[in-house]
Parts: sequence; C-alpha cells; structure tokens
Amino acid sequence: MAVVSSPQKTFFIETFGCQMNFHDSEKVVGTLISQGYRQVQTVDEADLIFYNTCSIRDKAEQKVFHRLADFKRLQQQGKQFAVIGCVAQQEGEKIFERAPHVSLVAGSASYRNLPQMLIQIGQGQRATGLDDRQTDETFETEFTARTNPHRGYITIIEGCDKFCAYCVVPYTRGKERSRTSESVLAEARRMADAGYTDIQLLGQNVNSYSDPLRKASFAELLTSVGEVPGIRRVRFTTSHPRHFSRDIVDAIDSVPTLCDHVHLPVQSGSSRVLSAMYREYTRELYLERISWMKAARNKTFSITTDVIVGFPGETEAEFEDTLTLLDEVGYDGVFSFKYSPRPNTPALEYADAISDEEKTRRLAVLNEKQREIQRARYAKHLGDIMEVMVEGYNRPRGQVIGRTSQNKTLNFTVPPGHAEPAIGAYVNARVTVTFPNSLAGEMVV
Ligand code: 5AD
Ligand code: SF4
Repeated sequence: MAVVSSPQKTFFIETFGCQMNFHDSEKVVGTLISQGYRQVQTVDEADLIFYNTCSIRDKAEQKVFHRLADFKRLQQQGKQFAVIGCVAQQEGEKIFERAPHVSLVAGSASYRNLPQMLIQIGQGQRATGLDDRQTDETFETEFTARTNPHRGYITIIEGCDKFCAYCVVPYTRGKERSRTSESVLAEARRMADAGYTDIQLLGQNVNSYSDPLRKASFAELLTSVGEVPGIRRVRFTTSHPRHFSRDIVDAIDSVPTLCDHVHLPVQSGSSRVLSAMYREYTRELYLERISWMKAARNKTFSITTDVIVGFPGETEAEFEDTLTLLDEVGYDGVFSFKYSPRPNTPALEYADAISDEEKTRRLAVLNEKQREIQRARYAKHLGDIMEVMVEGYNRPRGQVIGRTSQNKTLNFTVPPGHAEPAIGAYVNARVTVTFPNSLAGEMVV
C-alpha cells in the first residue's frame, strides 16, 4: 500500500517528444501517485519537477536545457528536479555537471526502479537510472494515470533494434522487448471495462512485435484487441516498412474496429538515400506495401508518413524522388523534418552535409507540394457522412470537434433543437466544407 507522508509531497511534470514519451509520463504519474505524491499543474506549487525529454532532433534536446536554466533559481526554495527520458539517457551524468540543481536522471528503461530512486532523492542523494538498456523487462505498472478517459495508449513493445543511420532512439530507449500478448489484452480489457473505446498500440517499431510466449503475431494481437467487447477503434504506431506485412493489411481490412489509417514512415523516396539511411527497403518495396493497402477490398486506407529532407549527400534529383513519391502514394498527412545530426549515430560521420538554408528550402518545397495533395484529397470527402468521436468543443465557432477513424479532424455543428453530443460519444456528421488539414460539417440527426 502507498505510504502517504504528511504534508503530502507534490510534483509537476512536463513532457516533450513522441506518444511513447507521453504515455511513459502517464505511467510515471501513476507511479508517483502510488508513492504518495500529488500532481500539481504549476512549477510554483511543486516540490519535485520532472522533465520527460526528447532528443530526436537538436531543437527538442535544447528545450530541456533552456527550461532547466530558467528554473535554476527555484532550487533555493527547496525544489528538486528530475530529468527523465531520451536526453537523460543520452547525456547521463553530464546533466548533473550542466545543471547541478538536478537530483535525478533516468532513461525510460529504468522507470520501473522509480520508487527506489524517489527514496534516494528524498534522503538528499542523487539518483540515476541509466544502465538498464539491455534489460528484457518492460515498464508494466498497474498505476498508469491516463489523462483522457475515452482514448488510451497501450505499449506493446519498447526499444528499437533497427539502428537507422540518423536515429538516436536505439541508444536512448535500448533494445527491443515485447510484452506478452496476454498482458496487452488484459490491459485492453481493463480499459474497456473502465469505459475506454479507442485504443492506440504503441511501440517504436510495432511490426517487430514478438510475443515472448509466442501466442500471437502483431496482426493477431491487433485483431484480438479489436475484438475486445466495448472497443470501437484501434490504431497503432509506429510501423517500419520492412516488417509491415500483408497480414496486417488483411486484419485491418476484415476487422471493423481496426482503423482505416496507417502511419508508415518512408523518410525518403530515393532508394540510394534509403540505403545510406540503413532503412532496409527500397522505394519499390515501400510502394508494394502501399499497393496492398490500396487493393484492400472493404476499406479505403488513409496513409500518413514521416520524411527527412537534407540527409547528408541527398542530391536535388534524390530530393525530387521524394516529391514524386508523395504524388504516387497520395498521403493524407506528412510529418517532415530537416535532417538533424545526432550524437552516437553513424550519419554523424557522413560527408556532404547539406546547408541549413538548403534544408529549409527543401522542407518548404515539400510542404507546399503536400499541402496541395492534401487539399485535393480532403476535398474528396465533400458530402461524405463519417462517424466521428467527439473530442471537445470550439465555443467561439459553435462547433463540436470530432475525429474520424482515418484520424482526420471533422468539426461540426449541431442542428437547432438537438442536444450537443458528450465528449467521447460517437455520432455521424456530413462533410460540407473541406480544408487541407481538416473537414467541417453538420451532425446527422
Ligand atoms: N533528424 C531529423 N528527423 C529525424 N527523425 C528521426 N531522427 C531524425 C533526425 N536525426 C524523424 C523521422 C522519424 C520521426 C519520428 O522523426 O522522420 O520517423
Ligand atoms: Fe523523442 Fe525518439 Fe525519445 Fe520519442 S523515442 S522521445 S521521439 S527521442
């Protein structure tokens, strides 16, 4: 049982980075609460301040050091600081040198040891959790404090063994380790019992999922989660094209609750660049995966991706290969990034760096092109009636904010005389206006 000391210690947590990090924070919050801490919403009210950090690009990494510098003065008030997540793992004890007011530094593979680390810092010692990346254990906790009562994440695999030439993740999150399908399903059932209807399965590379008890493949696990009574929508992220197998497409196409949206990061449309990135697939292999989705019989797949521009040595012609790929696939969304050199990664040593100015230009060209593609793609929804899950309200506009199963935002009005649907409800809405990034319409009554 949790020991609650009096007066109760308070904590504040700020999270940077990807969905994995946000979900880790939900687990960290649950663990802290189970240890008798109370969460507060401002730094001022907190005894203990957590930063869950991201180091995917240099900009993300710098953010945390700025925050730490800003809040140095708070140490005099007796506040303690904890740096966790990817920058913590990457920089390790160097963080204590750069920011001596920090008392705890831990990477994500060590979070299951947080209760002991909290005791250490409570006794005025420094605590570190940095050496656990070779562990086979995942951070399973019964204390996850989910922030949204309708939609929730479930981690199915932690870490990454892919070692793409640009990517820091295998160094910060350690080796791949999958949870048993039984424990994932048990969590999905508990969530359904608690009223969740929308589940997102998480992992750096969900397609490498390998049930330690060999009971289910990724596609089978996906199907089983989709069949949990009460669950209406299941998504997953992130996929690696190399291991994105046909049975996943078949599962989505045949199980109604599996969302018709796949995020399949391509990174580049040039096979030469993909090889330099160690991505283990060619443009052709990637397009084969896309063709499976386009050939699906029951569902129209919405496909989104990630792209890096200005990878070392990327020629103008190779960049244009990425532009033609955008046309060929017809994405509903592209997250595009300028290549950012990261510590420890092989690409750091690559010759022919592209200037920042040129990267900025390529990013702008790509975004402009994608905007036009999306304008046309979203326009095709005009007149469609789509099911949305209610996420919130835009009062100034008199609209309800909804999300479609393809993960598109559809804001809609409610006809006079009809009750406004509650957050978490599913209703149908007809699309009357389209934009490159969202849809608008009216509720069907
Ligand atoms: N520079 C720029 N973008 C990167 N990404 C990963 N590493 C880097 C890097 N060093 C992008 C990839 C990945 C997404 C999460 O972030 O596109 O899919
Ligand atoms: Fe950032 Fe990658 Fe760590 Fe997520 S796993 S927080 S994207 S560095």
